[in-house]
Amino acid sequence: MVSRVIPVDEFDLVIFGGTGDLARRKILPGLYRRFASGQMPAGARIIGAARSDMDADGYRQMIADAVAEFGGTHDPAVLKDFLAHLDYVAIDAKGTDGWAELGSKVRDGVIHAFYFSVAPSLFGDIAQRLKEHGIAGDASRIVVEKPFGHDLGTAKALNATLAAYFDEGQIYRIDHYLGKETVQNLMAVRFGNMLFEPLWNSNYVDNIQITVAETVGVGGRGSYYDHSGAMRDMVQNHLMQLLCLIAMEPPAKFDPDAVRDEKLKVIRALDPVAPHHVVRGQYAATEGGTGYRDDVENPRSRTESFVALRVGIANWRWAGTPFYLRTGKKLRARTSEIAITFKDAPHSIFGEDAGWNRNVLTIKLQPNEGMTLDVTIKEPGPGGMRLIDVPLDMSFAEALGPDAEDIPDAYERLIMDVIRGNQTLFMRGDEVEAAWAWTDPLIAGWEKRGEVPQPYDAGSSGPEDAMMLMHRDGRKWREIRT
Ligand code: BG6
Repeated sequence: MVSRVIPVDEFDLVIFGGTGDLARRKILPGLYRRFASGQMPAGARIIGAARSDMDADGYRQMIADAVAEFGGTHDPAVLKDFLAHLDYVAIDAKGTDGWAELGSKVRDGVIHAFYFSVAPSLFGDIAQRLKEHGIAGDASRIVVEKPFGHDLGTAKALNATLAAYFDEGQIYRIDHYLGKETVQNLMAVRFGNMLFEPLWNSNYVDNIQITVAETVGVGGRGSYYDHSGAMRDMVQNHLMQLLCLIAMEPPAKFDPDAVRDEKLKVIRALDPVAPHHVVRGQYAATEGGTGYRDDVENPRSRTESFVALRVGIANWRWAGTPFYLRTGKKLRARTSEIAITFKDAPHSIFGEDAGWNRNVLTIKLQPNEGMTLDVTIKEPGPGGMRLIDVPLDMSFAEALGPDAEDIPDAYERLIMDVIRGNQTLFMRGDEVEAAWAWTDPLIAGWEKRGEVPQPYDAGSSGPEDAMMLMHRDGRKWREIRT
């Protein structure tokens, strides 16, 4: 297999917040790798724009350091060539300084993309100035990051702010989960194979589990996270997107609005979640280690660092099949997977004593991307017919060979999609609003009831009640392991 790198057209990419954490950790190292792979054309330019007073050389040095620190292995000669594509403008997002200079740097006749890697409170100011100074036009694209709002009201306000200056077709809302290779594979597996789709409904599927487990705590993001929590930080966006890709109807074609229309229908069909179908947790302090409340410096925090919930989808395909979602920090392993458990065969010709297993299709999103299908076979040896479960195991790294190493990470792919003008892997405004409309009452419910999340041990699988959520239904979670 040969991976094909198709260069994009010439572009000017302006990164507001170009000196910030995201730019240094993800965006610039990602662009460096696209450059090294040959995808960035000679006429590509990246302009950092931020408050700091520095010149282009200072910025190049900052980004050289960032690529060295966060970009993995790199070739110094290639990095030097890459840095020659970088420029910098010191700018005041709320004032007048720097805008004329930025305008003079952005060239005519190339693609224009503006990455808003800044606090959402600055979106309106930047959009307005881009338009006022004639820097952004009708063909320009803007890229915005999560969190896209804190609830439905704030998301609507942000959408309205952006809509005052740009059309929906120009707005690229990033959910980096959609840029992950295996997440896109969910669509390839479902809609590229005949094998699965006929069984992909409540007649054959008993339940679906979506797990996104992390071993890290909240790190240095305590003040953001404590106002957000796992529901807003992970479920409203990343897990919701995974749920949509698993549950949606086949779009007529792989085209941005066809895909996003189908995802939107899933979100709108979600049942409200009953309070006893949600479990919230908070990691406790361990001996010699800090707990969530220490990490966020809020001894009375009621914010969840773990959430598990049972979700229903009220449509013909899924009525009756529960979707179990869970995500949390400081859990026993870093793993993201989706497990589709099929129903029992209707009748065992081998008798109850032979054993009774279910087919489970597991799609592993990270790490060790791949798929396994648990299949029932005969236990080898004499002594009659006894059944055992064995996995048909496919690791994408093995199946794709060395090409798997060249797979761009989520940010690299998404930024290249912006330049190509392909919105398929970006959230549309109505999708984001629908996701908040479903999330808001749930959060309002536990806030009103004054619920305190249950403590769980760091390195565990989450609070005890999360286990009970499944046990009550006669099911159990899959083990959290890499
Ligand atoms: C981010 C969340 O969107 O996703 C973080 O804000 C979380 O809290 C991260 O750690 C997880 O992303 P990944 O790619 O490491 O699974």
